[in-house]
Amino acid sequence: MTDMTRTTDKPASAAAIEALTAAGGGGPEALLGALVQRYGNRVTLASSLGAEDQVLTHMLLAIEPRARIFVLDTGRLHQETYDLMARTMSRYGMRYEVLFPDATAVQEMVSGEGPNLFYASVAGRKRCCEVRKVEPLGRALAGADAWITGLRRAQSPERGDTPLVEWDAAHAAVKANPLAEWSDEQVWDYLRAHGVPCNVLHDRGFLSIGCAPCTRAVEPGEPARAGRWWWEQGTAKECGLHVDGRPKERADGDAGAGRRAPAERRR
Ligand code: ADX
Ligand code: SF4
Repeated sequence: MTDMTRTTDKPASAAAIEALTAAGGGGPEALLGALVQRYGNRVTLASSLGAEDQVLTHMLLAIEPRARIFVLDTGRLHQETYDLMARTMSRYGMRYEVLFPDATAVQEMVSGEGPNLFYASVAGRKRCCEVRKVEPLGRALAGADAWITGLRRAQSPERGDTPLVEWDAAHAAVKANPLAEWSDEQVWDYLRAHGVPCNVLHDRGFLSIGCAPCTRAVEPGEPARAGRWWWEQGTAKECGLHVDGRPKERADGDAGAGRRAPAERRR
């Protein structure tokens, strides 16, 4: 039976987190099934169209074809990511809830600091992520009791303690990470075995894919997230969507302390 009661605080959700964590012991599909059963349309999957999110999309739509899946369209995604959105919609006969950043906030930011403020300073990068990702995430989760992400422990040291289910105080919602315990191999084996559509950029060395100006391909053997905000030194590779309850950034040093930002390198 679907429980439509909104869980607004941690104590109220403690029993739910315990029950969902136990369900997650049966694997990602068991956890997704438990989430759908408990929250109905008040649970939503956050998809960046990354490999993990494609796994979860495939699993979730098999459980509930009308499941809610949202994309934060920063306005700076790769064309290949938009192509994958379209292919996924067509393959599964589904629609995404797409959230754009606030137009006035983007206008003020770009008018004041230019289109490439993220290369100039860590503060500029954080402002851009705040405007284009973090604020829209708050809108995406308004009214949701629970959300699902593709976070995995193996993605980075910062994510090494990712639980299957946790309380997201920032959004007053349960946060489920059904693939937390999966390895890279498990993700790719699943995608191949089920013929799930994937971003063609993966074939070009892009492992972790975010916005186009802030993502590059990685060399064989490099950590997956080395291609994200690669010019920054001394910061955790996080944009602010997932910092709550995680180790915070170590320092806000200037971008390019060791590796220079793209604009400088081109001079
Ligand atoms: S990020 O914080 O550095 O951008 P990453 O790209 O690893 O995160 O994605 C981790 C998870 O955050 C994804 O599996 C997805 O659940 C969510 N996420 C990241 N970017 C977006 C986006 N643009 N739209 C929706 N969800 C996203
Ligand atoms: Fe802006 Fe880059 Fe963050 Fe995307 S990843 S929101 S372009 S700073």
